[in-house]
Amino acid sequence: MTEGKAIVLYWTKNGNTEKVARRIHDTLKKAGMEVSISPIVKDLEVEYLDYNLIFLGAPVYENLSPKPVLTFLRKNRRRDGVTLIPSAPEVPGVAAVPFCTYGGGHTGYNEAEPMLKHIGQYFEHEGIRVIEHVAVVGVFPEADESYNTDGRYGDIRRRPDEHDLTEVEGRVRGILRRMHRVLPLGDLRC
Ligand SMILES: Cc1cc2nc3c(=O)[nH]c(=O)nc-3n(C[C@H](O)[C@H](O)[C@H](O)COP(=O)(O)O)c2cc1C
Repeated sequence: MTEGKAIVLYWTKNGNTEKVARRIHDTLKKAGMEVSISPIVKDLEVEYLDYNLIFLGAPVYENLSPKPVLTFLRKNRRRDGVTLIPSAPEVPGVAAVPFCTYGGGHTGYNEAEPMLKHIGQYFEHEGIRVIEHVAVVGVFPEADESYNTDGRYGDIRRRPDEHDLTEVEGRVRGILRRMHRVLPLGDLRC
């Protein structure tokens, strides 16, 4: 059985989500996991069951994931060996954490939640338990300046900043401390 393995999958256009993905990767590695990181590119296929923890993240685009991520989620569920079974019986030894970056200027966290839940459904349909969501505020460079200064989170022009990334690190360490008795995460230092 797979033990102590994690993967961080992400898509980014302007770099915010990549910063978060890299901090997740570095935190998992520091804690002693064997961790890979991969951007979501065309025709990528990932066997989720080769890992014990899967982080998958993207920016929020109009309340959902960007198209390349939607395409990956759909195509990857059709990979060899996947059969969707009614009631989606849980697969032991593996769990997923969807994450995102988002501006949140209009309605705050409500802009992130549908996308995170939507990604989560692709895992849960395969029986992979979704154990947490991580949403991180990120500047929206294409938008009007006011969107980044006068929205629900105030001035977000430099986010995600070091404070956000330190919080991400804490969340990841918390996930490891929470899950180490029920997932084969290996010998952890966290
Ligand atoms: C086309 C587009 C649509 C977006 N839609 C939303 C949205 O609905 N809600 C939101 O909070 N942020 C939205 N954003 C802001 C991005 O989610 C945010 O800037 C994100 O951090 C960008 O990530 P990246 O730097 O990894 O590409 C949108 C950005 C773009 C470019």
